[in-house]
Amino acid sequence: MNEILIEGKNLRLRRANMADLNYIMTLQYTPENLKFIVPFDMNYHRENINSDGAEKMDVIVEEIATGNSVGYFMLRKMDSPSIEFTHVIISRKGQGYGREALKLLLKWTFELKDFHRVWIDCKDYNKIALHLYESLGFVREGFLREYLLTNGVYENLIVFGMLDSEYFNRQK
Ligand SMILES: CC(C)(COP(=O)(O)OP(=O)(O)OC[C@H]1O[C@@H](n2cnc3c(N)ncnc32)[C@H](O)[C@@H]1OP(=O)(O)O)[C@@H](O)C(=O)NCCC(=O)NCCS
Repeated sequence: MNEILIEGKNLRLRRANMADLNYIMTLQYTPENLKFIVPFDMNYHRENINSDGAEKMDVIVEEIATGNSVGYFMLRKMDSPSIEFTHVIISRKGQGYGREALKLLLKWTFELKDFHRVWIDCKDYNKIALHLYESLGFVREGFLREYLLTNGVYENLIVFGMLDSEYFNRQK
């Protein structure tokens, strides 16, 4: 039985299971995604899936109409008031699924789970993700200079955050 976190108009978010492992790995290593994330290995995800889900969780974005997987997120630091969203990846890009899935995840985070804040980091040249996060109400909180070393090149990260009060103000 798949554990469903939340459902919206077109998408549902559910906890990943072992049958999703190949999808998660393939999505991370697809070049158009890999350049924007730091992938984890299969053992990490296997552990994640088999864990009790109290601290971290792999989440599948599923199209309700077809049951197809259309994306994957990882949630971390769930044992603190400040949850981290990471590995935000949509496979069927440019159809509004990234926006809908993140809105659902924010609703789950603040309305169903009662976290105090969420944070997420993003490479400073990832224009689509930067636009998406800011338009959803994330606030730029920090700039980590030359934080990642990718293929011999240092890359900057922007840290975004959203507080529960900011989330609920936007719902009014
Ligand atoms: C970033 C990502 C999750 C967005 O998901 P998506 O489903 O493609 O995005 P959406 O269709 O919901 O569009 C979100 C916004 O980005 C814009 N956008 C989407 N694709 C775009 C493109 N190719 N060029 C310019 N803008 C684009 C949309 O217009 C939309 O903005 P709007 O609602 O103001 O018009 C997805 O593109 C992805 O998986 N990227 C690779 C991995 C990645 O970068 N992850 C983020 C790591 S921090």
